[in-house]
Amino acid sequence: MCGIIGYIGNKLAVPYLLKGLHDLEYRGYDSAGIAVLADNEIEVRKTEGRLSALEKLMDKKPTKNATIGIGHTRWATHGKADSLNAHPHLSENKRFAVVHNGIIENHASLQKMLEREGYHFIGQTDTQIIPTLLERNYNGDVINAISDTIKMLDGSFALAILFVGDTENIYCTCRSSPLIVGISKGSGHIASDETALVRVASQSVRLGKDEIAKVSRDGVSFFDENGKPVKKAFKKIERSTLDIQKNGYEHFMLKEIYEQPKAIKDTIRPLIENGKLRIGEYFRESGMDTGSINRICITACGSAYHTGLVGKHVIERLAKVPVECDIASEFRYRQPLLDENTLVIVISQSGETADSLAALRLAKDKKAKTLSVVNVPSSAIAEESDCVLYTRAGPEIAVATTKAYSAQLSVLYLLAVHFAFEKKTEKKEELDALLGHIINLPGLVEKTLKKTAEICKEYSKIFIGSEHAYFIGRSLDYASACEAALKIKEISYIHCEAYAAGELKHGTISLIEKDTVVVAHACCKSILKKTLSNVMEVIARGAKVILIACESDREILSEFDNCIFVPDTSEYLLPSLEAVVSQLLSYYTAKGLGNDIDKPRNLAKSVTVE
Ligand code: F6R
Repeated sequence: MCGIIGYIGNKLAVPYLLKGLHDLEYRGYDSAGIAVLADNEIEVRKTEGRLSALEKLMDKKPTKNATIGIGHTRWATHGKADSLNAHPHLSENKRFAVVHNGIIENHASLQKMLEREGYHFIGQTDTQIIPTLLERNYNGDVINAISDTIKMLDGSFALAILFVGDTENIYCTCRSSPLIVGISKGSGHIASDETALVRVASQSVRLGKDEIAKVSRDGVSFFDENGKPVKKAFKKIERSTLDIQKNGYEHFMLKEIYEQPKAIKDTIRPLIENGKLRIGEYFRESGMDTGSINRICITACGSAYHTGLVGKHVIERLAKVPVECDIASEFRYRQPLLDENTLVIVISQSGETADSLAALRLAKDKKAKTLSVVNVPSSAIAEESDCVLYTRAGPEIAVATTKAYSAQLSVLYLLAVHFAFEKKTEKKEELDALLGHIINLPGLVEKTLKKTAEICKEYSKIFIGSEHAYFIGRSLDYASACEAALKIKEISYIHCEAYAAGELKHGTISLIEKDTVVVAHACCKSILKKTLSNVMEVIARGAKVILIACESDREILSEFDNCIFVPDTSEYLLPSLEAVVSQLLSYYTAKGLGNDIDKPRNLAKSVTVE
């Protein structure tokens, strides 16, 4: 969600803070701010809008030279996205400055308490009570003040804190919101995301729940929630996370779309050896006995949930294990029936999504076995799951997911094959053949990119000027339609809805009129005829249809206009190829509309609040 950065060293803090905020801006971008500590005073600069607005402000109104500071890029939850509510927030006596990610759920009652005690507030954020609580609880020791403060807070937070009385340290703490401390020779760093540390720090450590860190130029001291010193081990920062350049592409999204063959290849490589699946080894290494699993629950948010929809179909069909797939924010509150024979699979690119993390914790509380499919190593979901299968898509910067989604799909296919082998529900030769298709998937995605990019660019014009679009499909095509609708709506701002094609006539077809855009996913041969009859129904009502189908059906679809053909492969794997088409349609539509493709309005990359 929002991004946090902190620096203490021997160089000027502001360039470090602004650079760090640039690396984090994809996490939230409706306002930004920094605070630096110099001459016994905290100076704050903050403004609404993008980071560029903060940079302009800094040019006009530079701060004093300082070697210690914190910064924030915000995605508003409480209070308008204006400069008053932008972070950092100061305590009333201006001795504490705080930046915060997360949500303080009891902020209203704490604010009332503080107001009764004589403190004043001017903004609307849940954050503003934190520096005031620090001021109130400060009794000569900052660690104790932090410890006393976080004990009063309900909800989630990652905090970076400056204190006027201490020019030698920045402080930080977190609960259910990520915070990483980095060190390098002569400098200490704080960030909510490791991508902001790779250029500046050599080693890092992730703060645990309610842990507190005191970060200086020469090292870091850690404390538990009661302020007792604790030891934590640093690990070397993986340089591979450095690759966050556009490399000549106009947008990160386009670059990431074209990185998909590599993302899939890198993801499946460690899971297959000499044509044999190694997923069993991963389960065994984690100490998990999968033999007793008689039910699988997949849970995730957004696109990752759509991966789950595909996974449900493929696992059930191949391994004959019942699979439920739930949106994590529903799963966590619907009191799901879970036990030690249930495997809960949590899918998440960031590994930090608040609802997915809560769903994982719920599964663990109920003694279910847990597996996560995660792209960011050392994220909370990865760290807390019994077993992790990593997607190796590399850093994904565009807010709309592309390569991480494709990498997730490839893991779910492999899991389905693994369970089918284990449960002996399909013939070995058939599973071997399917494995062969999965190994060939990067090449097919490459081919799809080459063959469909131009036509997608062309057909994207069909969306321009439309207020609504409908995406239909059956079975696996329906899962693909859900992802396609999300992809277009999030960056084009066109209202898009996905429907199971057979469901349309139960109400929604009343919305279809002349020139309504309908995208029909018609790749699954096993159900093609049924899908086509639904396509005919919308055409009969004047819809303008874009049809996504398999190359081998070109002949039988010759009567349809606006067809996009993907290469043939196993039906199970077609969602990977349909995803490429949807991403390209989405990208070129948003480009045609002149939208901010990598940072669409109201969104943020990593959703660390519920
Ligand atoms: C859509 C998109 C989101 C994420 C969702 C879950 O393009 O990116 O819908 O899929 O917010 O995020 P992760 O996978 O990080 O848990």
